[in-house]
Amino acid sequence: MPRGLFITLEGLDGSGKTTQIKRLAVWLKSRGFDPVITRQPGGTSTGDRIRAILLDSRSSGVAPMTEMALMFADRAQAIAEAIQPALDAGRIVVCDRFTDSTEAYQGGGRQLGSEIVLELHRVICGNLQPDITILLLPSLNASLARARRRNTREEAQTGKDENRFELEQDGFHRRVWEKYHEIAEREPQRVVLIEGDGTIDQIHQKIVQAISEKMLILKQA
Ligand code: TYD
Repeated sequence: MPRGLFITLEGLDGSGKTTQIKRLAVWLKSRGFDPVITRQPGGTSTGDRIRAILLDSRSSGVAPMTEMALMFADRAQAIAEAIQPALDAGRIVVCDRFTDSTEAYQGGGRQLGSEIVLELHRVICGNLQPDITILLLPSLNASLARARRRNTREEAQTGKDENRFELEQDGFHRRVWEKYHEIAEREPQRVVLIEGDGTIDQIHQKIVQAISEKMLILKQA
């Protein structure tokens, strides 16, 4: 059975990932694919419970190592339950955040460094690598403003408080941003960096072009 295609989307909170994932799913379906769409943290019933601990701003005093361990616990479950079986069945998996998020947020933002994140990824996740990662990095200030507006709105609508990361200081988000750039520079074959504040349509076009090219390369390999 051929291995499917593993696509991840990354970026700062408020970078427009969620909108782009919805557009990408429609595009993939229009081409006859039946993608599995998932997200981290969460995406499995165990993962959703881990997500609640991680994102609720009332979870105070979570140590950086605890945070990182929970992110990997969530990911191990998602790989076992959803991602690997789908890839083994030859399907396309689109995942909203993966280990690059842990490297950027815990490695960069929380200053745990890249090395420990990459080592844990090898041990806990069998070093599973995405075939292609779309990294959306619009300007830092625009993303932060958008994320904060969105969370206030969602909290008012759903009563759910998922603000713990958005409430971090700007220095934290700058370190996340810098680490994402470092990852993109280190792994140019895997990571497609889309910078700047393009329209939803323009960014969608860039994403589907990059994914089409990757599909072609893998088909020829
Ligand atoms: P979410 O509401 O899914 O935000 P977004 O729509 O921006 O992806 O929240 C996920 C938050 O968790 C986000 O602030 C990034 C953070 N995160 C980490 O810190 N480390 C990780 O490994 C992952 C997967 C997410």
